[in-house]
Amino acid sequence: MTIPDIIIAIDGYSSTGKSSFAKKIARKFNFLYLDSGALYRGVTLFAQEEGFINRLAEINRALKDALAQLDLHFGAEGKLYMGPRCIEQQIRSMEVSAQVSPIAAVPYVRAWVDEKLREFGKKGRIVMDGRDIGTAVFPNAQLKIFMTASEQVRAQRRYDELVAKGENPLLEEVVKNLRERDYIDSHRETNPLRRAEDAFELDNSEMTFEEELAWVQGLIQGKFGIL
Ligand code: DC
Repeated sequence: MTIPDIIIAIDGYSSTGKSSFAKKIARKFNFLYLDSGALYRGVTLFAQEEGFINRLAEINRALKDALAQLDLHFGAEGKLYMGPRCIEQQIRSMEVSAQVSPIAAVPYVRAWVDEKLREFGKKGRIVMDGRDIGTAVFPNAQLKIFMTASEQVRAQRRYDELVAKGENPLLEEVVKNLRERDYIDSHRETNPLRRAEDAFELDNSEMTFEEELAWVQGLIQGKFGIL
């Protein structure tokens, strides 16, 4: 099945499986996959390493100027780089996860990330996942999907992911972090997480990857009249 050069926007709560789903779509239809959350995580790691977050978790205003010098880009296999350094592993740690939502709520951080995302989006034929892709970054995206799943399923997925990476998390900590992030992401002032009116909702709590792919394939066929 060949599909047009569209932008596919996938939004939803943390650990709903957005990135796995988006990667599968990208592979299936030969699209470029872009993980917008990785950029927020990259800015968070930068802010932590450079001391822009103090012990009270306050964000130093000087971060705004420092962003002008920050080089974050995607390299081979969609991994995130800070200058020459691959930071894919560090940005997935619990430390970064614990501080990324407040950083992502800062308006100048969002403006900085949005500019990068729109630049990447010029290429077309991309699938991008995040919290505000269909509502703010690409409001004209031709296909929008909003993903949800039960809290229990999401927490277990995140827990398994961390364990697979060699971390030793407590399930309660993972649940707490999910709840905090969901709350901050959907209550912040600038472009909070919400379902775009024209987004199709997918609750994948009890779905396999194959079922998810079949669902999106049906959606694309129906929407673009492809046989
Ligand atoms: O998808 P993720 O868990 O890697 O995202 C990390 C954080 O970045 C998440 O707490 C919300 C924020 N984010 C955002 O505000 N807007 C996006 N488009 C993507 C992520």
